[in-house]
Amino acid sequence: MTVEVWWARIDQARDEFAVDLDADEQRRLAAYRRDEDKARFLLGCTMVRRLLAARFSLPAAKVRLDRSCPDCGKPHGKVRADGVELSVTHSGELIGVAIGDHPVGLDVEKVDPGVDIDAVSRLCLAPEEVRGLAQYDGIARAKAFTQVWTRKEAVIKTTGVGVRADLRTVVVSAPDQRAEVRAWAAYAGPTQLTDLEVGADHAAALAVLHAEPLVVRVNDETQVLI
Ligand SMILES: CC(C)(COP(=O)(O)OP(=O)(O)OC[C@H]1O[C@@H](n2cnc3c(N)ncnc32)[C@H](O)[C@@H]1OP(=O)(O)O)[C@@H](O)C(=O)NCCC(=O)NCCS
Ligand SMILES: [Zn+2]
Repeated sequence: MTVEVWWARIDQARDEFAVDLDADEQRRLAAYRRDEDKARFLLGCTMVRRLLAARFSLPAAKVRLDRSCPDCGKPHGKVRADGVELSVTHSGELIGVAIGDHPVGLDVEKVDPGVDIDAVSRLCLAPEEVRGLAQYDGIARAKAFTQVWTRKEAVIKTTGVGVRADLRTVVVSAPDQRAEVRAWAAYAGPTQLTDLEVGADHAAALAVLHAEPLVVRVNDETQVLI
């Protein structure tokens, strides 16, 4: 089973991309105060629209996306489209999109050396995950934590439930071990997890809810963003 991944960099955003966004997306774009948040959101929308446009032979503006939140109905949930499984992520300089035939979750995070790992760990990590970070110090600890964090987020992003789930009930392997789901109270089916190489400043992971061996194809985004 193949999952296709594309990565854009924040400096690839161009104002004219916004013409293809629907009314909900235009509202969200306008509501971001910081230019960098606008750019990341715009690139996520644009890549999804252009990739599905190519797949379904439609103009990008005609691609129908549904981001309904399962809690409140507002358009800020997992992005969905008929006939395909998607996941979008953005952080720091990177914006990623994954497309497959089974539920996918993609997560990227910029490594933040200032993050209070102990505080986040208490709230969000299982005891086994905390132990897996014990051997690291300084920047290596920030990187290891970020890798574990993206593994967990990729898993929860498959279903669209999001961080309302108690993150401690999704347990992933330690950063020096092959990426895999160790336990997930809310889901009993097959899962696969893999780290993705995105350079030293970010960490990324991809999860898929399917048993067939996962092949990840990382594509050239420049064709999508010309
Ligand atoms: C989804 C979530 C895990 C990702 O957070 P993050 O790491 O800060 O951000 P990322 O950039 O990696 O992911 C954001 C993208 O994930 C997608 N997304 C949003 N909610 C999602 C969810 N519940 N599950 C999976 N994907 C989701 C969207 O495509 C979003 O990008 P877009 O809005 O530009 O299209 C987190 O935002 C979350 O759990 N949100 C839901 C919280 C909630 O339940 N809110 C209820 C509000 S009423
Ligand atoms: Zn909501």
